Amino acid sequence: MTDFKPTIIPTASEDFAATAADAIWDKISQIHSPLTALPTGSTPLDVYKHLLSAYGERKDVWGQVRYLSLDDYAGLEDDDERLFQNWLAREILDDSGITHRTTFNSNAADPAQETARMEQWIADNGPIDIVVLGLGTNGHIAFNEPGSSFESTTRIVPLSSETREANAAYWGGIDQVPTQAYTLGLKTLASAQHIFLLVSGAHKADILDKVLNGPITEDVPATVLRTVPNVTVIADKAALGLKP
Ligand code: PGA
Repeated sequence: MTDFKPTIIPTASEDFAATAADAIWDKISQIHSPLTALPTGSTPLDVYKHLLSAYGERKDVWGQVRYLSLDDYAGLEDDDERLFQNWLAREILDDSGITHRTTFNSNAADPAQETARMEQWIADNGPIDIVVLGLGTNGHIAFNEPGSSFESTTRIVPLSSETREANAAYWGGIDQVPTQAYTLGLKTLASAQHIFLLVSGAHKADILDKVLNGPITEDVPATVLRTVPNVTVIADKAALGLKP
């Protein structure tokens, strides 16, 4: 297996959001109707704020972006505020003016049919142009938890207790975090034309070191990103284990 080296853009922590926003904007504005998957989490929050403050006026560009769900909780009603598609609507999609949205139907009666629908939609409308990812402290990307096959496609997965704990803070307790989620698979993500992995904070230093320098293994799902070119890691110095 070829071990592609991702491009790494190191930043001071105070420059992280602007650096990531500028890099994402460069791609979004260069590609016609970019099919773009965006992450939730604390890492991208300021990135979205910067995208809106620096480029929010460019409705000509935003109006062409096609947003694609990266992952989402399963079993919730369309208007549930916990849905990632609704979180992203609040943080970036509504204010930027991204109206073309392809999302998981969280409450689908038949999850297998829903995952097949999404995979077929991507086959018909892809390739995915831009995927932006956060990194879980256990190495997950989207909801591909450790042990996920590098060949995995869109599917419904049980959430690990570590991931549910990490998400509990947003919703006032672990009992508010659904136990299952839809996610694009590792193969689906790796097929994207341009992939950004955003990593900030010293608490991510160990896992980022494994992702960049450890063995390529399904135990650390993000190492799939070393099997493809066109991956850019934007990381602050704390996450890279460097002195600030
Ligand atoms: P975080 O989440 O940005 O809140 O650290 C990343 C992730 O778990 O994917």
